[in-house]
Amino acid sequence: MTDLTSADVFTDNAVAQKPFDYFEALRAKGPIVPLGFRNVVAVTGYDEGVAIYKDDIHFSAINTVTGPYLPLEYDSSRDIDEQIEETRAGNPYLGTIMTEDEAKHAKSKSILNGMITPARLKANEAFMYRLADRIIDEFIDKGTFNVLTDFGSPFAQLTVADLLGVPEEDHEAIRGLVAPPNQLPGNLGGHFDMSTNPLARMGMQFYGYIADRRANPRNDVLTLMAQQTFEDGTLPEIVDIVGLATFLFGAGQDTTVQLFAAMLRRLSDEEGLADRLRAEPNKIGDFVDENLRLEGTSKSTFRYVRKPVNIAGFDFEPGQHVMIHTLAMNRDPRRFENPAAFDIDRKNGRTHVAFGRGLHACAGAPLARAEGRVAIERLLARMENIRISDERHGPKGARRFEHLPNYSLYGVTEQWMDFDPA
Ligand code: HEM
Repeated sequence: MTDLTSADVFTDNAVAQKPFDYFEALRAKGPIVPLGFRNVVAVTGYDEGVAIYKDDIHFSAINTVTGPYLPLEYDSSRDIDEQIEETRAGNPYLGTIMTEDEAKHAKSKSILNGMITPARLKANEAFMYRLADRIIDEFIDKGTFNVLTDFGSPFAQLTVADLLGVPEEDHEAIRGLVAPPNQLPGNLGGHFDMSTNPLARMGMQFYGYIADRRANPRNDVLTLMAQQTFEDGTLPEIVDIVGLATFLFGAGQDTTVQLFAAMLRRLSDEEGLADRLRAEPNKIGDFVDENLRLEGTSKSTFRYVRKPVNIAGFDFEPGQHVMIHTLAMNRDPRRFENPAAFDIDRKNGRTHVAFGRGLHACAGAPLARAEGRVAIERLLARMENIRISDERHGPKGARRFEHLPNYSLYGVTEQWMDFDPA
């Protein structure tokens, strides 16, 4: 049998279709393993990955989205930080918060903190309940739905639209701006063109909103966003606000959509689970987190080594791409007992790293958790006998799903559920 770890994880769809076999093959070689190609080092260990996530001195986030397809040929005779900044300057999509380092990242984070406030999240949760029911109404009479397109996408998209104060009359247009599966960062082969991504259009829409609110302030969330200042009192450029708002739509789209899909697969095939959650709704939060631990959408993320450092006995060298396998860390047996088992009662379940760790930890985590909770509450209330469609995906025990052809994101390309209206 050929060694699975020698497969090219960046191009080989067989690996994308069986990520957990791949992770366990890597883990058998150790928590930190150089792949031997593209200058990539893979990390599957929990403690090792957390140490890297928290270390922004030796590691840069410049390659978080691209991984080794970063357009930078490292020249060891030149200062690495200079080379990182040159690469960033030449590539607009390397200017998002997720790829920024140090001072620039801190500035973006301060704008973001003004967008996702506790008060906004509270109002947004009330909207989510109304929205979930409105979307379920669209297919409740059919007894079947595609989780990704019929429920997940509109729910995730319009939740972020409401959080950012997009007027309701524009919601319908925003609902359509969804990237197809081959237009996601982490697409196998590294082909990802932001300029043709439908989310780019969102940027233009937001530019209009923010410019208008700066000129004509109103009593609304967009005005608060437009008038927000940095800690030193200066006003951000409109493009900086627009970039962040657009990024939130992208970051909050496929991630949560795939979370809904994973949760519904569990509810369908895990005996007694739906009844237990109906009887104990206070366990729905743990249910959401256990799904995130085992099947969180962020399969892998990256860091670029900028200074030599030793972690857990491994010497990292400048110019290496560190592939942090978040989902493998979440199944590290040194951290989680019986790690592959689904157990909503496990004591340390919430210490998973589905949302990353450290400076770049997911800013939308509270939002994603709330979306997961509200979606499950309303789906369980409106539907009985929620089950994966045998017709589309085969019978229980032999289900068939096609996974995203992606080295960063974990999820399925399609998922149909059947149900009886409650
Ligand atoms: C299940 C849903 C989600 C998952 C699994 C997820 C996962 C992650 C992970 C792993 C990171 C860190 C990546 C790294 O350090 O390399 C991250 C960052 C981020 N996420 Fe999420 N995310 C989810 C939903 C959301 C939502 C709903 C939003 C907002 C609408 C959001 C906004 C962000 C932002 C802004 C960052 C960048 C933070 C920074 O660089 O400082 N995410 N996410």
